[in-house]
Amino acid sequence: MTELTPERSRRGSWRGLRRTLVLGLAGSLASAGLVALTGPSAHAADTLGAAAAAKGKYFGTALSTSHLGESQYAATADAEFNMVTPENEMKWDATEPNRGQFNFSGGDTIFNHATSHGMKVRGHTLVWHSQLPGWVSGISSGSELTQVMDNHITNVMSHYKGKIYAWDVVNEAFQDGSSGARRSSPFQDKIGNSFIEHAFQTARSVDSSAKLCYNDYNIDGVNAKSNAVYNMVKDFKSRGVPIDCVGFQGHFNSQSPVPSDFQSNLQRFVDLGVSVQITELDIAGSGTSQADNYAKVVNACLAISKCDGITVWGVTDKYSWRSGDTPLLFDGNYQKKQAYTSVLNALNG
Ligand code: XIL
Repeated sequence: MTELTPERSRRGSWRGLRRTLVLGLAGSLASAGLVALTGPSAHAADTLGAAAAAKGKYFGTALSTSHLGESQYAATADAEFNMVTPENEMKWDATEPNRGQFNFSGGDTIFNHATSHGMKVRGHTLVWHSQLPGWVSGISSGSELTQVMDNHITNVMSHYKGKIYAWDVVNEAFQDGSSGARRSSPFQDKIGNSFIEHAFQTARSVDSSAKLCYNDYNIDGVNAKSNAVYNMVKDFKSRGVPIDCVGFQGHFNSQSPVPSDFQSNLQRFVDLGVSVQITELDIAGSGTSQADNYAKVVNACLAISKCDGITVWGVTDKYSWRSGDTPLLFDGNYQKKQAYTSVLNALNG
């Protein structure tokens, strides 16, 4: 008995015949100009969100309620992105402006806009020294401030329980420069080092479905500050303090360029057992150099399977928090910049 080689079996089978017929038919239709021969796998995605999704990642933007009423702003965001971070609306001064009085109107506006357009939401941010109401900084007792912090985390996270992809639980708790020390803040100064792990523990107990991130800037390459964050994450992992991700804000300019060790720095965090996310990306500049820097960041994330995704800090240059740097992907008229094309090509690459 002759054994069928894979080749013979394929040629001899009905499946093979059907395939030949189908391909033949498709070929004739294509030459008649009726169908394109490129299948879905060969088709490059034409939005940032779709291109990132094809690589198992998300591509997000910060959104602000101040501009949602502008049709091009909303239309650009809705078309291109699949993750949203409220730019200011979930910060402490917005959600608990007075002690015990919670206000979710801005946060809900962003949340509802995002989810009704198929986008997920990153929660930003629960514990941060900035955009913090005066009544919080005015509390002098550490134990009282701990209670206030717990109450804030509990109320905000409960309101969005089960609906947030990831929370920036603590934002910017470390100093810049060579000290590797914690930044002075009401939380650090009155509660002490333990405020961060306490915040993460409380966060986990309120909503176990959200990824819990520590988020900071100037930690993109290996330096004293990123070493300090690295050591904290390592310590948390060794003691079972819940932490799932580290957010790298990624605010770049000529003084603080995309470092050459960006990817290896992300990787060392992943090796500790957390995922990494680029959470507030914007890169000062224009033209080819800006486009190349954007591609560097995207390629670093693509190279790391546990880089969950990238969020740019705004839709259009004209509403960027540093609009003078023209750091985003769309110009003030919502035209795609060279940086946009570079990001899309990198995602499709
Ligand atoms: C910025 C917003 O973009 C501005 O609109 C606001 O006036 C100040 O905050 N790090 C963060 C973000 O974590 O929340 C900051 O967003 C930018 C720096």
